[in-house]
Amino acid sequence: MPNVFGSPHKGSEPRHEQVVFCQDEASGLRAIIAIYSTALGPALGGTRFYPYGSEEEALTDVLNLSRGMAYKNALAGLDHGGGKAVIIGDPTTDKSEALLRAYGRFVESLNGRYYTACDVGTFSEDMDLVARECGYVTGRTVAHGGAGDSSILTSYGVFQGMRAAAEATWGSPTLRGRRVGVEGVGKVGHRLVDLLREDGAEVVICDVSEAAVARVKARHPEVEIVADNAALVRSPLDVYAPCALGGSLDDETVPVLSAKIVCGAANNQLAHPGIEKQLADRGVLYAPDYVVNSGGVIQVADEIGGFSFDRAKTRASGILDTTRRIFALAAEEGVPPAVAADRMAEQRMSEVGRLRGIWLGGH
Ligand SMILES: NC(=O)c1ccc[n+]([C@@H]2O[C@H](COP(=O)([O-])OP(=O)(O)OC[C@H]3O[C@@H](n4cnc5c(N)ncnc54)[C@H](O)[C@@H]3O)[C@@H](O)[C@H]2O)c1
Repeated sequence: MPNVFGSPHKGSEPRHEQVVFCQDEASGLRAIIAIYSTALGPALGGTRFYPYGSEEEALTDVLNLSRGMAYKNALAGLDHGGGKAVIIGDPTTDKSEALLRAYGRFVESLNGRYYTACDVGTFSEDMDLVARECGYVTGRTVAHGGAGDSSILTSYGVFQGMRAAAEATWGSPTLRGRRVGVEGVGKVGHRLVDLLREDGAEVVICDVSEAAVARVKARHPEVEIVADNAALVRSPLDVYAPCALGGSLDDETVPVLSAKIVCGAANNQLAHPGIEKQLADRGVLYAPDYVVNSGGVIQVADEIGGFSFDRAKTRASGILDTTRRIFALAAEEGVPPAVAADRMAEQRMSEVGRLRGIWLGGH
């Protein structure tokens, strides 16, 4: 079992503030909510509904995901800590109104320490049901005052991160005339292709879904298609944009990659620790995934206070400058950008989180 409490030794890695196991036998709900940190405010992160093979697998996932959200939210400039939840089960067969509402009551019982939203296996309609029992829900449908599809701002943010990487590599924040390979043209990837074509980039794509490829082909007949990701990473590219699942950058892909930049939407792109160093050693600039794909969480965070698309888009535009600052810090400290991003996030959690220690008076 993962060690939730961690090592008591000073200097060891910080551990999660709170981990809650929730069970409602009648509806079949088995969920774990993990709050990594509330240093910057209430924890925010989605609910993953997934048929985990064991409790241990679910716990490991929620611990990793909630930690990742703390870093993502910190660098997105949000007043939110990091949290995440997992529901154990098959969303296609186990999801019911009673189960989602039971889950909502457990989220409510945390009294605002954790805000939930959609993730793999959950949708805005599910959040509408959770919200019938709970006030700490975002990512709802437009009909219920929600902000709708988060992939619009996610793709926009990835594009801003890519502009920063182009500037650091070629001197100007544009992809004009560059050849960009997009792995996965789903909700985020196909919108990224639109932005790249608008900017004058040449685009090559791959996707396991024929329907996804056909949608891009219909809008952009000039886009090149390759069979799979193995062919994509081997083709001549200036930029590689993983927008499918995690783990695209591994011991096989990194050595054959021709691109000078990696920047995409997928979470957890680096298959294991050490890949960031392999990329840096090959002269490939990696724009950290959790920084450039934060447009979606920026959107759902904005929804909590009453959604304004323009306000959320302005904040997502900030991903350009945040990515620039990460590259500058990486160069200054002689570390890969992934390490620089973690340091910047930790600094914000510590500097801004500390302010709660200032006594405000009153009772
Ligand atoms: N949607 C968001 O707002 C958001 C926010 C942050 C991060 N992300 C991450 O971005 C990635 C894409 O998200 P999405 O919302 O577009 O998901 P999606 O499911 O709509 O799209 C993923 C696409 O990748 C394709 N794909 C799957 N396996 C593949 C493979 N082996 N090779 C090529 N293509 C493959 C799928 O067919 C699909 O078209 C995910 O990793 C997601 O976690 C999404």
